[in-house]
Amino acid sequence: MSQDRVTDVGMRKPQSALAQKLEPARSLVPEHVEHGLEGDPRNIMVHEDPVLETRDLSIYYGSAKTIHNISITIPRQHITALIGPSGSGKSTLIRAFNRMNDVIPIAWCEGDVLFNGEDVYDPVVDPVEVRRRIGMVFQKPNPFPKSIFDNVAFGLRINRYTGDLAERVERALRVAALWDEVKDRLKDNAFGLSGGQQQRLCIARALAVEPDVILMDEPASALDPIATGRIEDLMHELKKHYTIVIVTHNMQQAARVADYTAFMNLGRLIEYGDTQKIFTSPDDPRTEAYITGRFG
Ligand SMILES: Nc1ncnc2c1ncn2[C@@H]1O[C@H](COP(=O)(O)OP(=O)(O)OP(=O)(O)O)[C@@H](O)[C@H]1O
Ligand SMILES: [Mg+2]
Repeated sequence: MSQDRVTDVGMRKPQSALAQKLEPARSLVPEHVEHGLEGDPRNIMVHEDPVLETRDLSIYYGSAKTIHNISITIPRQHITALIGPSGSGKSTLIRAFNRMNDVIPIAWCEGDVLFNGEDVYDPVVDPVEVRRRIGMVFQKPNPFPKSIFDNVAFGLRINRYTGDLAERVERALRVAALWDEVKDRLKDNAFGLSGGQQQRLCIARALAVEPDVILMDEPASALDPIATGRIEDLMHELKKHYTIVIVTHNMQQAARVADYTAFMNLGRLIEYGDTQKIFTSPDDPRTEAYITGRFG
Protein backbone atom coordinates (compact mmCIF):
# COMPACT_ATOMS: atom_id res chain seq x y z
CA MET A 1 0.00 0.00 0.00
CA SER A 2 1.63 3.20 -1.02
CA GLN A 3 1.11 6.45 0.83
CA ASP A 4 -1.10 8.00 -1.85
CA ARG A 5 -3.55 5.11 -1.60
CA VAL A 6 -4.27 5.52 2.08
CA THR A 7 -7.79 6.69 2.77
CA ASP A 8 -9.51 8.54 5.57
CA VAL A 9 -11.42 5.49 6.68
CA GLY A 10 -8.37 3.29 6.60
CA MET A 11 -5.46 2.89 8.92
CA ARG A 12 -3.60 6.05 8.02
CA LYS A 13 0.02 6.78 7.80
CA PRO A 14 1.02 10.08 9.40
CA GLN A 15 0.83 13.13 7.13
CA SER A 16 3.98 13.27 5.07
CA ALA A 17 5.49 16.27 6.91
CA LEU A 18 4.96 14.55 10.20
CA ALA A 19 6.16 11.24 8.84
CA GLN A 20 9.58 12.72 8.17
CA LYS A 21 9.87 13.77 11.79
CA LEU A 22 8.70 10.48 13.21
CA GLU A 23 11.55 8.06 13.41
CA PRO A 24 10.59 4.52 14.36
CA ALA A 25 11.51 3.92 18.00
CA ARG A 26 15.07 2.79 18.42
CA SER A 27 15.15 -0.86 19.24
CA LEU A 28 16.73 -1.94 22.48
CA VAL A 29 17.03 -5.46 21.23
CA PRO A 30 20.40 -6.87 20.16
CA GLU A 31 20.80 -7.39 16.45
CA HIS A 32 20.93 -11.18 16.56
CA VAL A 33 17.65 -11.33 18.51
CA GLU A 34 16.00 -8.83 16.20
CA HIS A 35 16.62 -10.91 13.16
CA GLY A 36 13.40 -12.54 12.02
CA LEU A 37 12.47 -14.38 8.88
CA GLU A 38 13.84 -11.73 6.55
CA GLY A 39 16.74 -13.22 4.68
CA ASP A 40 16.06 -16.71 5.94
CA PRO A 41 14.25 -18.30 3.01
CA ARG A 42 14.57 -21.81 4.45
CA ASN A 43 11.66 -21.13 6.72
CA ILE A 44 9.36 -19.18 4.47
CA MET A 45 6.26 -21.12 3.69
CA VAL A 46 4.41 -20.39 0.50
CA HIS A 47 0.89 -21.67 0.04
CA GLU A 48 -0.58 -21.74 -3.40
CA ASP A 49 -3.79 -19.74 -3.59
CA PRO A 50 -3.73 -18.42 -0.02
CA VAL A 51 -6.90 -16.78 1.27
CA LEU A 52 -4.91 -14.18 3.19
CA GLU A 53 -1.42 -12.92 2.62
CA THR A 54 0.73 -10.14 3.98
CA ARG A 55 3.67 -8.83 2.02
CA ASP A 56 6.38 -6.99 3.85
CA LEU A 57 3.82 -5.74 6.34
CA SER A 58 4.98 -3.36 9.05
CA ILE A 59 2.61 -1.88 11.61
CA TYR A 60 3.32 1.14 13.77
CA TYR A 61 1.66 2.62 16.83
CA GLY A 62 2.66 6.24 16.40
CA SER A 63 6.41 6.09 15.87
CA ALA A 64 6.85 2.64 17.43
CA LYS A 65 7.33 -0.08 14.85
CA THR A 66 5.47 -3.05 16.29
CA ILE A 67 5.24 -5.47 13.36
CA HIS A 68 8.43 -5.78 11.35
CA ASN A 69 8.18 -6.61 7.64
CA ILE A 70 6.08 -9.74 7.95
CA SER A 71 5.25 -11.78 4.88
CA ILE A 72 2.96 -14.69 5.58
CA THR A 73 0.40 -16.71 3.63
CA ILE A 74 -2.70 -18.22 5.24
CA PRO A 75 -3.99 -21.32 3.47
CA ARG A 76 -7.66 -21.76 2.69
CA GLN A 77 -9.79 -24.12 4.80
CA HIS A 78 -7.09 -24.85 7.29
CA ILE A 79 -6.37 -23.69 10.81
CA THR A 80 -3.32 -21.52 11.31
CA ALA A 81 -2.14 -20.69 14.82
CA LEU A 82 -0.16 -17.61 15.82
CA ILE A 83 1.92 -18.20 18.92
CA GLY A 84 4.53 -16.15 20.74
CA PRO A 85 5.23 -14.33 23.99
CA SER A 86 2.98 -11.60 25.31
CA GLY A 87 3.59 -8.38 23.41
CA SER A 88 5.07 -10.12 20.38
CA GLY A 89 2.42 -8.63 18.10
CA LYS A 90 0.02 -11.52 17.56
CA SER A 91 -3.12 -9.43 18.12
CA THR A 92 -1.74 -6.55 16.08
CA LEU A 93 -1.03 -8.88 13.15
CA ILE A 94 -4.36 -10.71 13.29
CA ARG A 95 -6.24 -7.39 13.45
CA ALA A 96 -4.51 -6.25 10.27
CA PHE A 97 -6.21 -9.02 8.30
CA ASN A 98 -9.67 -7.46 8.62
CA ARG A 99 -8.68 -3.84 9.23
CA MET A 100 -9.58 -3.89 12.89
CA ASN A 101 -6.48 -1.77 13.57
CA ASP A 102 -8.30 1.06 11.75
CA VAL A 103 -10.16 1.80 14.95
CA ILE A 104 -6.89 2.59 16.77
CA PRO A 105 -6.14 6.18 15.69
CA ILE A 106 -2.35 5.97 16.14
CA ALA A 107 -2.00 2.69 14.24
CA TRP A 108 -0.76 2.75 10.65
CA CYS A 109 0.93 0.32 8.33
CA GLU A 110 3.19 -0.18 5.36
CA GLY A 111 3.16 -3.14 3.01
CA ASP A 112 0.23 -5.17 1.75
CA VAL A 113 -2.56 -7.28 3.17
CA LEU A 114 -4.23 -9.34 0.48
CA PHE A 115 -7.54 -11.14 0.77
CA ASN A 116 -8.13 -13.47 -2.15
CA GLY A 117 -5.42 -11.51 -3.90
CA GLU A 118 -7.07 -8.10 -3.34
CA ASP A 119 -5.48 -5.38 -1.22
CA VAL A 120 -7.82 -4.87 1.74
CA TYR A 121 -6.41 -1.36 2.29
CA ASP A 122 -7.20 -0.23 -1.24
CA PRO A 123 -9.29 2.97 -0.98
CA VAL A 124 -12.04 1.42 -3.08
CA VAL A 125 -12.45 -1.39 -0.55
CA ASP A 126 -15.22 -1.01 2.04
CA PRO A 127 -13.86 -1.97 5.49
CA VAL A 128 -17.34 -3.09 6.59
CA GLU A 129 -17.40 -5.60 3.74
CA VAL A 130 -13.88 -6.72 4.64
CA ARG A 131 -15.08 -7.44 8.19
CA ARG A 132 -18.16 -9.26 6.94
CA ARG A 133 -15.98 -11.62 4.93
CA ILE A 134 -13.27 -11.86 7.57
CA GLY A 135 -15.06 -12.19 10.91
CA MET A 136 -13.50 -11.93 14.32
CA VAL A 137 -13.98 -13.57 17.71
CA PHE A 138 -12.25 -12.03 20.72
CA GLN A 139 -10.72 -13.35 23.92
CA LYS A 140 -13.59 -12.26 26.11
CA PRO A 141 -17.03 -13.21 24.79
CA ASN A 142 -18.65 -9.90 23.85
CA PRO A 143 -22.34 -10.50 23.19
CA PHE A 144 -24.46 -7.38 22.76
CA PRO A 145 -27.04 -6.57 25.47
CA LYS A 146 -29.75 -8.06 23.33
CA SER A 147 -31.56 -11.33 22.93
CA ILE A 148 -29.76 -14.45 21.71
CA PHE A 149 -31.66 -14.19 18.43
CA ASP A 150 -30.89 -10.51 17.95
CA ASN A 151 -27.20 -11.10 18.60
CA VAL A 152 -26.97 -13.60 15.77
CA ALA A 153 -29.22 -11.54 13.50
CA PHE A 154 -27.23 -8.36 14.16
CA GLY A 155 -24.85 -8.50 11.21
CA LEU A 156 -27.57 -9.71 8.86
CA ARG A 157 -29.73 -6.72 9.76
CA ILE A 158 -26.82 -4.32 9.32
CA ASN A 159 -26.25 -5.83 5.90
CA ARG A 160 -30.00 -5.40 5.19
CA TYR A 161 -30.47 -9.11 4.64
CA THR A 162 -33.85 -9.64 3.02
CA GLY A 163 -34.08 -13.42 3.21
CA ASP A 164 -35.42 -15.63 5.99
CA LEU A 165 -33.74 -14.23 9.09
CA ALA A 166 -34.93 -17.01 11.41
CA GLU A 167 -33.57 -19.66 9.10
CA ARG A 168 -30.14 -18.00 8.94
CA VAL A 169 -30.03 -17.51 12.71
CA GLU A 170 -30.87 -21.16 13.30
CA ARG A 171 -28.28 -22.31 10.80
CA ALA A 172 -25.53 -20.20 12.39
CA LEU A 173 -26.46 -21.45 15.87
CA ARG A 174 -26.42 -25.04 14.66
CA VAL A 175 -23.01 -24.65 13.03
CA ALA A 176 -21.72 -23.06 16.25
CA ALA A 177 -23.00 -26.12 18.15
CA LEU A 178 -25.29 -23.98 20.32
CA TRP A 179 -28.73 -24.50 18.81
CA ASP A 180 -29.85 -27.35 21.06
CA GLU A 181 -28.93 -25.39 24.17
CA VAL A 182 -30.72 -22.18 23.20
CA LYS A 183 -33.54 -23.05 20.81
CA ASP A 184 -36.18 -22.62 23.52
CA ARG A 185 -34.80 -19.34 24.83
CA LEU A 186 -33.95 -17.34 21.75
CA LYS A 187 -35.68 -14.26 23.15
CA ASP A 188 -33.71 -14.36 26.41
CA ASN A 189 -30.90 -11.91 26.98
CA ALA A 190 -27.53 -13.25 25.82
CA PHE A 191 -25.95 -12.29 29.14
CA GLY A 192 -27.84 -15.18 30.72
CA LEU A 193 -25.66 -17.69 28.87
CA SER A 194 -22.55 -19.26 30.38
CA GLY A 195 -19.13 -17.99 29.27
CA GLY A 196 -18.60 -20.91 26.92
CA GLN A 197 -22.11 -20.50 25.49
CA GLN A 198 -21.52 -16.77 25.04
CA GLN A 199 -18.33 -17.51 23.11
CA ARG A 200 -20.17 -19.95 20.84
CA LEU A 201 -22.86 -17.27 20.42
CA CYS A 202 -20.16 -14.84 19.28
CA ILE A 203 -18.93 -17.47 16.83
CA ALA A 204 -22.52 -17.89 15.59
CA ARG A 205 -22.80 -14.11 15.21
CA ALA A 206 -19.61 -14.09 13.13
CA LEU A 207 -20.83 -17.07 11.06
CA ALA A 208 -24.30 -15.67 10.35
CA VAL A 209 -23.03 -13.23 7.74
CA GLU A 210 -21.26 -16.10 5.97
CA PRO A 211 -17.65 -15.00 6.15
CA ASP A 212 -14.78 -16.78 4.42
CA VAL A 213 -12.36 -16.43 7.31
CA ILE A 214 -12.75 -16.35 11.07
CA LEU A 215 -10.03 -14.71 13.11
CA MET A 216 -9.94 -15.86 16.73
CA ASP A 217 -7.81 -14.00 19.25
CA GLU A 218 -7.42 -16.34 22.25
CA PRO A 219 -11.04 -17.51 21.93
CA ALA A 220 -10.85 -20.06 24.73
CA SER A 221 -8.53 -18.44 27.26
CA ALA A 222 -11.43 -17.42 29.52
CA LEU A 223 -13.11 -20.83 29.34
CA ASP A 224 -12.90 -24.01 31.39
CA PRO A 225 -11.47 -27.19 29.80
CA ILE A 226 -14.88 -28.56 28.81
CA ALA A 227 -15.98 -25.34 27.11
CA THR A 228 -12.51 -25.09 25.53
CA GLY A 229 -12.87 -28.62 24.18
CA ARG A 230 -16.20 -27.70 22.60
CA ILE A 231 -14.67 -24.67 20.89
CA GLU A 232 -11.80 -26.83 19.60
CA ASP A 233 -14.22 -29.47 18.29
CA LEU A 234 -16.16 -26.71 16.64
CA MET A 235 -13.02 -25.38 14.95
CA HIS A 236 -12.35 -28.80 13.46
CA GLU A 237 -15.87 -28.78 12.01
CA LEU A 238 -15.62 -25.19 10.81
CA LYS A 239 -12.45 -25.70 8.83
CA LYS A 240 -14.37 -27.86 6.37
CA HIS A 241 -15.90 -24.63 5.09
CA TYR A 242 -13.94 -21.78 6.61
CA THR A 243 -10.39 -20.63 7.09
CA ILE A 244 -9.45 -20.06 10.72
CA VAL A 245 -6.59 -18.05 12.15
CA ILE A 246 -6.25 -18.46 15.91
CA VAL A 247 -4.02 -16.70 18.42
CA THR A 248 -3.35 -18.87 21.43
CA HIS A 249 -1.06 -18.97 24.44
CA ASN A 250 -1.94 -22.58 24.98
CA MET A 251 0.70 -24.73 23.29
CA GLN A 252 -1.34 -27.90 23.64
CA GLN A 253 -4.25 -26.14 22.00
CA ALA A 254 -2.11 -24.98 19.06
CA ALA A 255 -0.72 -28.50 18.68
CA ARG A 256 -4.24 -29.99 18.84
CA VAL A 257 -6.09 -27.73 16.47
CA ALA A 258 -3.70 -26.05 14.06
CA ASP A 259 -2.48 -27.37 10.72
CA TYR A 260 0.15 -24.65 10.52
CA THR A 261 1.80 -22.64 13.26
CA ALA A 262 3.61 -19.32 13.10
CA PHE A 263 5.91 -18.31 15.93
CA MET A 264 6.30 -14.58 16.51
CA ASN A 265 8.72 -12.76 18.75
CA LEU A 266 9.28 -9.02 19.18
CA GLY A 267 7.08 -8.19 16.22
CA ARG A 268 8.84 -10.55 13.86
CA LEU A 269 7.79 -13.79 12.27
CA ILE A 270 10.49 -16.15 13.44
CA GLU A 271 9.32 -19.44 12.04
CA TYR A 272 6.30 -20.74 10.20
CA GLY A 273 5.53 -24.28 9.22
CA ASP A 274 3.54 -27.46 9.72
CA THR A 275 2.37 -27.56 13.33
CA GLN A 276 3.96 -30.93 13.89
CA LYS A 277 7.33 -29.69 12.70
CA ILE A 278 7.17 -26.50 14.76
CA PHE A 279 6.41 -28.51 17.88
CA THR A 280 8.78 -31.41 17.31
CA SER A 281 11.78 -30.12 15.37
CA PRO A 282 11.73 -26.34 14.97
CA ASP A 283 14.58 -24.82 12.98
CA ASP A 284 15.03 -21.76 15.14
CA PRO A 285 16.38 -22.00 18.70
CA ARG A 286 13.98 -19.23 19.77
CA THR A 287 11.00 -21.31 18.67
CA GLU A 288 12.31 -24.26 20.59
CA ALA A 289 12.94 -22.14 23.69
CA TYR A 290 9.38 -20.83 23.55
CA ILE A 291 7.56 -24.10 22.98
CA THR A 292 9.53 -25.80 25.70
CA GLY A 293 8.66 -23.01 28.12
CA ARG A 294 12.15 -21.62 28.48
CA PHE A 295 11.11 -18.10 27.57
CA GLY A 296 7.99 -15.99 27.16
N1 LIG B 1 -3.45 0.39 20.94
C1 LIG B 1 -2.13 0.35 21.13
N2 LIG B 1 -1.41 1.48 21.27
C2 LIG B 1 -0.07 1.44 21.46
N3 LIG B 1 0.65 0.30 21.51
C3 LIG B 1 -0.02 -0.86 21.39
C4 LIG B 1 -1.43 -0.89 21.19
N4 LIG B 1 -1.82 -2.19 21.12
C5 LIG B 1 -0.70 -2.92 21.27
N5 LIG B 1 0.38 -2.12 21.43
C6 LIG B 1 1.78 -2.58 21.63
O1 LIG B 1 2.16 -3.38 20.54
C7 LIG B 1 2.93 -4.49 20.98
C8 LIG B 1 2.26 -5.78 20.52
O2 LIG B 1 1.02 -5.90 21.19
P1 LIG B 1 -0.01 -7.05 20.85
O3 LIG B 1 -1.24 -6.77 21.64
O4 LIG B 1 -0.16 -7.17 19.38
O5 LIG B 1 0.77 -8.32 21.41
P2 LIG B 1 0.25 -9.81 21.64
O6 LIG B 1 1.29 -10.72 21.06
O7 LIG B 1 -1.14 -9.96 21.18
O8 LIG B 1 0.33 -9.92 23.25
P3 LIG B 1 -0.61 -10.78 24.26
O9 LIG B 1 -0.17 -12.19 24.11
O10 LIG B 1 -0.27 -10.21 25.60
O11 LIG B 1 -2.05 -10.56 23.88
C9 LIG B 1 3.03 -4.37 22.49
O12 LIG B 1 4.25 -3.78 22.80
C10 LIG B 1 1.88 -3.47 22.85
O13 LIG B 1 2.17 -2.72 24.00
MG1 LIG C 1 -2.96 -10.35 22.11
